[in-house]
Amino acid sequence: MSDHDEADLRGRVAVLSTEQKIRLLTGADFWALYPEPDAGLRRVVLSDGPAGVRGETWDERDTSANVPSPTALAATWDCDRVGAIGRLLAAEARRKGVDVLLAPTVNLHRTPYGGRHFECFSEDPLLTARIGVAYVRGLQNQGVGATVKHFVCNDSETERMSVDVRIDERTLRELYLAPFEAIVLEAGAWAVMASYNGVNGSTMTESPLLRSILHDEWGYDGLVMSDWTATRATEAAARAALDLAMPGPAKRFGPWGDALLAAVRAGQVDEALLDDKVLRILRLAARVGGLDGVKGSVPVTPAPADIPRELRATAAASFVLARNEGSLLPLDRSGLGRVALIGPNAEIARTLGGGSATVYPPYTVSPLDGLRAAGLDVAFAPGTLGHLRTAAARAPWLLRPDGSGPGADIRFFSPSGEVIGSEQRDGAVFRWMNGFAAIGVPEQIDRLEVSCVIRATEAGIYQLGATGIGRFRLLADDAVVFDETLTAREGADWGEMLMAPPVRLGPLELAAGQSVAVRLEHYVHTSPMAGAGTFFQLLLEAPHGTDDEEMEAAVALAAGSDVAVIVVGTTAEVESEGFDRTSLALPGRQDELVRKVAAANPRTVVVVNSGAPVLMPWAGEVAAVLLTWFGGQEFGNALADVLLGEAEPGGRLPTTWPASEVGLPSAQPDDRTLSYTEGLFIGYRAFDRDGREPLFPFGHGRGYTTWSYDSITVDCDEANPGTALLAPGGTTPQNLPRTGGSTPPYPPDPPGKPGIAVCVEVRNTGSRPGREVVQVYASRPDSTVERPAKWLAGFAVVDADPGETVTVGILLPERAFQHWADGGWTLEAGTFALAAGSSSASLPLTAGVTLK
Ligand code: BGC
Repeated sequence: MSDHDEADLRGRVAVLSTEQKIRLLTGADFWALYPEPDAGLRRVVLSDGPAGVRGETWDERDTSANVPSPTALAATWDCDRVGAIGRLLAAEARRKGVDVLLAPTVNLHRTPYGGRHFECFSEDPLLTARIGVAYVRGLQNQGVGATVKHFVCNDSETERMSVDVRIDERTLRELYLAPFEAIVLEAGAWAVMASYNGVNGSTMTESPLLRSILHDEWGYDGLVMSDWTATRATEAAARAALDLAMPGPAKRFGPWGDALLAAVRAGQVDEALLDDKVLRILRLAARVGGLDGVKGSVPVTPAPADIPRELRATAAASFVLARNEGSLLPLDRSGLGRVALIGPNAEIARTLGGGSATVYPPYTVSPLDGLRAAGLDVAFAPGTLGHLRTAAARAPWLLRPDGSGPGADIRFFSPSGEVIGSEQRDGAVFRWMNGFAAIGVPEQIDRLEVSCVIRATEAGIYQLGATGIGRFRLLADDAVVFDETLTAREGADWGEMLMAPPVRLGPLELAAGQSVAVRLEHYVHTSPMAGAGTFFQLLLEAPHGTDDEEMEAAVALAAGSDVAVIVVGTTAEVESEGFDRTSLALPGRQDELVRKVAAANPRTVVVVNSGAPVLMPWAGEVAAVLLTWFGGQEFGNALADVLLGEAEPGGRLPTTWPASEVGLPSAQPDDRTLSYTEGLFIGYRAFDRDGREPLFPFGHGRGYTTWSYDSITVDCDEANPGTALLAPGGTTPQNLPRTGGSTPPYPPDPPGKPGIAVCVEVRNTGSRPGREVVQVYASRPDSTVERPAKWLAGFAVVDADPGETVTVGILLPERAFQHWADGGWTLEAGTFALAAGSSSASLPLTAGVTLK
């Protein structure tokens, strides 16, 4: 652990000139801070994001372990498992030279329309807090910094750069700030990211909340960085408790640099403010081992030995078995005949959502790969493809010009037509986000040229093209297919430009086995990133039938197979940073496909591969529904494990799965304002209030065994043998050293009783070992204040063999019984009702607790 002392840090600040200090306050480039030899500070590297550690390169040359989406992590409800994922990410960060991860994202699932829903944990602040604390501890105990983001109320994407969220104080405290509070106070987060949006009239990089809440109330001693390009004002941001403007350098991005120097010289910004900001940068550096003479935090446990195995088990533990009529699942391997694997998401692995959270995994396992690797007799039909964006060219069609494996050669040209650099690449997705310097090519690139061979596997019309922004010229065997400038949609956010830029395709008729030499030219200065980089993909679509033909083939396949497994879902272009969804329906004709396949084969399992809820109007017509999120690189293997019962579908819903779009909060601002008029009533709190039935309730998930809930005891004996007393979520509270003392217990304020201990006895009444998430909800029927009908107060994960009874202790934090009123946390004295069970809609055990 970091052995720095504060006096030493202050001494290092004191030797720096004003210019030196100001230089440190804006990034050196897209992903790094400036080094400062006079302070003994080396270059500190930051990197996205929640689903992996991307590093400084954003393409296939620097791959990263791709963990399941944060919604999946939360669906495990298993803090120990999430802590292990934090450790895995820390090992990845160290391997890739990353000091600080730009994660976790702890905004809430206010509405399922939110584009980054997949990247956040839950609609519930307590579940988000517990999972977030575990994630941050896992990372930081290994000496890698976490950046808790986006502070605060960045719960949707539309107009995220300019929208002002209007929210009442109680809702802000009880819902949206609660995860930040728990993570800052319990896990001692080393960095927080201020979001793009405003809250109640102040843009977050200038917001008084940074100082009043983070510094003054929570005693936060870490760093506040801006989201990328979110710093807008020189003085206002400097006076607020924003420490670091990202990205840099200042002459290209951000309003600090020389302007801040002038403001300090003019006496408009106090130099003491700069000192505090620099101190926080040095403290972060000390913690991650970036300061000379300070040991930094050292790994206390070895890196995970077997990343694939851990990712596979975590994905399986996150899958939610939402429906299983007639116990169709697990499939019995013995005697299992042909499996019809159907659906647009079955062949290409959809392992992550879009935007800054994307990483390049070393490999991915699609459902088709996974089921085949499990030795099943699988026949595949996509069923419907019409709605999918054309994918990047890939094997077996894409070859390097010399025919040596999948990939392409790239040459960079100067304005005078001279070749000034080259790269040999393994794929056809290209992203230079941090200049071209890493490849030794100067910034003055005029155009670049991608060369490859496309070889037809069958005769037919191939669609060849590009997606990106700027001018593209495509040639096939030296004939121009198109020469066109693609422009972004008016008002498009950079997230949208990156994930869903315009597409231009041209047809190419090829005979089976025919090869064609392809050249895609791109004029770099026409990119929106001109000078700093560019991004685009070479696209290729192999011949396929019309959707009607594909659907007919899939239905025939299902009818003639023993079982049908349909994998439907979304993609990283549908669920992404930078824009929200405007419909929760499955894209294209997927609903129709499910209905037709289920009608053709009653033994139909629908696998829903999405990071966030989608509508499932057919849910009552199919035997089994398995919700698998974006499952990370081991998705297909985990799917095979769960379908065959080799792993338990361990997930429980971290968010309500609505039956329709009725009554959901909107993500669309009105005149640059987004009012959280629903107040405390998001997710299950809203469904309860309105008496609406969701499709699948919060906390729901079946698993492969059955449980009886036998007893609940309040204020149980913490020392009772056989009763493991756990913090909510099942992680034993552990202190993480922070500067200046130990971590306060949760809840931090007011001090006093840590909470109420509840013991719940459950029995595995089925015939298989299983895993249950025991959930405890509180309510206050006679309350004098407006409250949800119930709210999650604690939970724990239990494992039990058939017939085994387990008693689990769950600590319900005192905060779970408090509400925010008149500027403080308050407890309404009296009796709270408690209910325990397997989901928010199945709570067989009840008790009461009287609090004063
Ligand atoms: C995102 C952040 C991310 C940053 C750097 C921003 O657009 O909102 O979550 O960490 O980019 O990629």
